[in-house]
Amino acid sequence: FVEQAALNREKLLQGISPEILRQVEKFEFLFTISAEKLKEITAHFVTELAKGLSKQGGNIPMIPGWVLELPTGNETGDYLAIDLGGTNLRVVLVKLLGGSKFETVQDKYALPDNIRTAKSEDLWAFIADSLKAFVIKQYPNKPSHALPLGFTFSYPASQDAINEGILQRWTKGYDIEGVEGKDVVPMLQKALSDRDVPIDVVALINDTTGTLVASAYTDPETKMGLIFGTGCNGAYYERVADIPKLEGRLGKDIDQNGLMAINCEYGAFDNEHVILPRTEYDIQIDAESPRPGQQSFEKMISGYYLGELIRLILLELHSEGVIFKGQDNTKLSEPFILDTSAPAISETDSTPEFSEIESLIKNKLGINTTLDERKFIRRLSELIGNRAARLSVCGIAAICKKRNYETGHCAADGSVYNRYPGFKERAAQGLRDIFDWTVEPKDYPIVITPAEDGSGAGAAIIAALTEKRLAAGLS
Ligand code: GLC
Repeated sequence: FVEQAALNREKLLQGISPEILRQVEKFEFLFTISAEKLKEITAHFVTELAKGLSKQGGNIPMIPGWVLELPTGNETGDYLAIDLGGTNLRVVLVKLLGGSKFETVQDKYALPDNIRTAKSEDLWAFIADSLKAFVIKQYPNKPSHALPLGFTFSYPASQDAINEGILQRWTKGYDIEGVEGKDVVPMLQKALSDRDVPIDVVALINDTTGTLVASAYTDPETKMGLIFGTGCNGAYYERVADIPKLEGRLGKDIDQNGLMAINCEYGAFDNEHVILPRTEYDIQIDAESPRPGQQSFEKMISGYYLGELIRLILLELHSEGVIFKGQDNTKLSEPFILDTSAPAISETDSTPEFSEIESLIKNKLGINTTLDERKFIRRLSELIGNRAARLSVCGIAAICKKRNYETGHCAADGSVYNRYPGFKERAAQGLRDIFDWTVEPKDYPIVITPAEDGSGAGAAIIAALTEKRLAAGLS
């Protein structure tokens, strides 16, 4: 893979002008992360995970998820689940069938425009209206009892119990007033009651925790649940005795030697800026975001920011007169006009003169490109995509080191993992560099595997586990 990448580079850069070549080399220097650096980052990551679990806490929130069991695969019953994603609200009816099997029926409801900056009431009204429509469709004769719902809320939310979630702060560009610092479960429950929708919100789940549990339901080798998408985060099972900040918060029935799922929220890794090789563009993305200083790691690697990174670089080079000479930069000046499809398309364009990059830049930015400029965009996309994948795996490696996992499956989901070209190979190569594996890729002991549906099945399984605990009178 690495040799192939080097050959491709040589071919790509043949005949390129010295001026553009200088730029390519500059960005190669800025965006290439060596194996040594990955190891250093991982080592710091391990200490930060532990710090987050300590009483005084650290940068990484390490939020206890109150999921105290591993699923057996035998959980059964009908559950509703919702997931508030980047573009849709997904509503799912999950039928857990036992025998590690489940069936789902789902609908998607497009998020209203500008929901990221809407009013709190509008958000809950939209979710409750969508749920109402779904219940009417699936249960034409009103259900006889309140339907249990697992709410996947993919933001850092503190929990002292599974059925609450106090939003610490919005991430991924969300900025809805009146929600931070509050428990989101009663807000949703009230919007449902106001509309007479027979639903009981029994569990609030992070998407990574859902991914972890759904994948553990079908694959006992699962060690963690990961999202590489609009945001980037991971969850794993930690020993209760190794979570000092739980002291005094646990019921007497909870076994110190047992496990609890932890939503790391490691997008916040290195918020104190001591180890990540941030470029001036990463610093600018952070400064111009609604929550500067937060989610430092996520802002370098997740899908929400990759297109923006390219835009900032192209804008700078245009203003320096290096590229797009004499052309109008009005559209190029618009924040977030390029999303992750821009580097993704640029990386997969196999036409001899990069005509897909040409149309992309023409359609999105109204700019005509020269062949050299398109080559530059191709190379820049590779660098940004590769950096994202390599940095992403530091979280995985750190959890493995913390828990002494030498083998296992790391269940992953999210748009970047599923759709970004080369992400999987680059991520595997990153782990190889960190752990110094010498075996063939097919024999790598720690493998990133495609996850089961975390926010559907995972949320339902967690709701089922919760009901079981409550029925047994456990805390
Ligand atoms: C952001 C959120 C986190 C979520 C991740 C992936 O990092 O803060 O809760 O798990 O995105 O969606």
